[in-house]
Amino acid sequence: MTENTKTVLVTGASTGIGKATALALDGNGYRVFAGVRKEEDGQALKAEASGSLKPLLMDVTDDDAIARAVARIGEETGGGLSGLVNNAGLSLNGPLELLPVSEIRKLLEVNVVGLLAVTRSFIPLLREAEGRLVNVSSGHGLLAIPDKSVYAASKFAVQAISDSLRLELRPFGVSVSNLVVGKVDTAVLEKILEERERVAAAADPAVLELYAPLFEFFDREVKGLPGIPPERVAEVIAEALATPKPKAQYLVGPGARKMRNLSRLPRWFREGMMYKALYGRRKS
Ligand SMILES: NC(=O)c1ccc[n+]([C@@H]2O[C@H](COP(=O)([O-])OP(=O)(O)OC[C@H]3O[C@@H](n4cnc5c(N)ncnc54)[C@H](OP(=O)(O)O)[C@@H]3O)[C@@H](O)[C@H]2O)c1
Repeated sequence: MTENTKTVLVTGASTGIGKATALALDGNGYRVFAGVRKEEDGQALKAEASGSLKPLLMDVTDDDAIARAVARIGEETGGGLSGLVNNAGLSLNGPLELLPVSEIRKLLEVNVVGLLAVTRSFIPLLREAEGRLVNVSSGHGLLAIPDKSVYAASKFAVQAISDSLRLELRPFGVSVSNLVVGKVDTAVLEKILEERERVAAAADPAVLELYAPLFEFFDREVKGLPGIPPERVAEVIAEALATPKPKAQYLVGPGARKMRNLSRLPRWFREGMMYKALYGRRKS
């Protein structure tokens, strides 16, 4: 590892896309700081990586942990960060009426406020290195559908943050890329299924019954959709960090393209289609 080795920070690197990205970038010769929340996740990641990957304990909702991460990376690099990959994120699905406000706050705190807090704290280091910011959004950052009001709100926000910062940081030579990611085969599906069971168990059965078509639609149409491996997303993130001209937006996987195309349809047509798919010919 030399003075010129590029340094990147990947948040949420314990599993899924973040883990695959940290390992891919490590394999490509970057000095990788891998954000995790548990010591043992950092050790597990280290065991799969080259000797130079460094786990970093950082919950994106913990201001002190973010400040410690900035100080450590600043010290170890002499003051520059070539890439920040904002990947850490939660999912929350279900009809809004059935979702606890505490869970809504938690999701927005991680997916939106946490991402903003981490980014603002690392801007000086990114500016110093004329680095790159890569935000992991979702097809639901372009297309909001029933059952996803909270998650989609967070990913539309990520899209907006990327668009805003792209011009705000351009004068400093810092680029901003937004990843629109379709379905990826990670632990997230398990987490969604567990969460749905929790939400359903806590709901008034009469109210739950009102939303039966949404649950049936998810089981019928969404659960079994093919996903792409997280390594595929990692490749795109690696490209966004290395290519001479990073794109403003990357669509990753067929699901992302499909959602982008649906988002471009006239609203009346798209919502008519969606309504029919959810409720058959029931009158609105
Ligand atoms: N999988 C998909 O189909 C898909 C599609 C589109 C977009 N995405 C986005 O891709 C990103 C990664 O998702 P994934 O599928 O890889 O899910 P995942 O396997 O559940 O990984 C989520 C990561 O975020 C971390 N995290 C959660 N809360 C955190 C917090 N407060 N502070 C720091 N880290 C935190 C988790 O750490 P712990 O292990 O400590 O909880 C984990 O490392 C998310 O932003 C997600 O919205 C995923």
